Amino acid sequence: MSGPNTDYDPVEVTPLRADEVEAQRDAALAAIAAAADLEALKQVRLEHAGDRSPLALANREIGALPPQARKEAGARVGKARGEVNKALGQRLAVLEAEHEERMLVEETVDVTLPTDRALTGARHPITMMSERIADVFVAMGWEVAEGPQVEAEWLNFDALNMGADHPARTMQDTFWLEPAEAALVLRTHTSPVQARTMLTREPPIYVVCPGRVYRTDEIDATHSPVFHQVEGLVIDEGITMAHLKGSLDHFATAMFGEGITTRFRPSYFPFTEPSAEVDLVCFVCRGVNSDECRTCRGEGWIEWGGCGVVNPRVLIACGVDPEKYTGFAFGMGIDRTLMFRHGVEDLRDVFEGDIRFAQPFGIEI
Ligand code: PHE
Repeated sequence: MSGPNTDYDPVEVTPLRADEVEAQRDAALAAIAAAADLEALKQVRLEHAGDRSPLALANREIGALPPQARKEAGARVGKARGEVNKALGQRLAVLEAEHEERMLVEETVDVTLPTDRALTGARHPITMMSERIADVFVAMGWEVAEGPQVEAEWLNFDALNMGADHPARTMQDTFWLEPAEAALVLRTHTSPVQARTMLTREPPIYVVCPGRVYRTDEIDATHSPVFHQVEGLVIDEGITMAHLKGSLDHFATAMFGEGITTRFRPSYFPFTEPSAEVDLVCFVCRGVNSDECRTCRGEGWIEWGGCGVVNPRVLIACGVDPEKYTGFAFGMGIDRTLMFRHGVEDLRDVFEGDIRFAQPFGIEI
């Protein structure tokens, strides 16, 4: 069994000598004072106050001393270690405060700097064009009417004098909904809104109906299975084709500028009689040097839509007295109008949703 070594002379144990302990303490204090940052201080702590530091190693020697010498050496080493720890704590506080201060400066955000505004989204050019068109008619006292995109077969076709064998009713043009017994289609034109309006309102009727329509067309530069039309319908006493022509000339001029009027070409629609195709004066060559014009290919005119005097059979189907009232109707492509008005060459650009397409329309974002 081993006991304290009574012959042990602390003066002979170098690490415990007063001058040695002081030297170690002074070295530690100097290193602490010299630590420039928290990382350096961490290193100093390891070297001068860690388990393997000279003072810690000296401390281990104490146990082997005789009791009297142990007390003295213990007090000396303990005091030195206390001083070193205190200095470490103080230096840590100073360096932490410095670090904090530096971070505050380095990470400062200048809230007064101007920033880019976040994009919040905007209405689509087609929406804006629909509203612009509606405004032209609202300014003349007309009302805006709307109908559903999933429409009853009867309203999309039958009420509009389109018999069951009409070509527009074949699967080729129309998206039919299942089950077939429901007799529902994705409306192929905005004309069912005519029927809905006549069935629910008493004449006089002056309505404009912009909306989305569907046909089983392949997508290309001028076709899309989803597109937009604007329908116009007037039912009143004494309405003639002249009122129709005047309204469309006004519409064309409002859209394309002074001098851009319309011409009618005889045509056929089951729901109007007589019927006409509506052409616009070419808004590029204005019908003047039409030979070189690539837009109208020398025609001087551009196809815009269809129109006519409402067929009395449609009036009857929709509960309007054809002896008392007459009316006119027209249907134009909104997408076409947008493309003409803004020189858009590919319809796909309109529907792809790239913001770079929408921005030049003066969209407020
Ligand atoms: N609904 C017709 C179409 O989509 C256009 C039209 C509307 C024609 C109103 C005459 C009267 O082609």
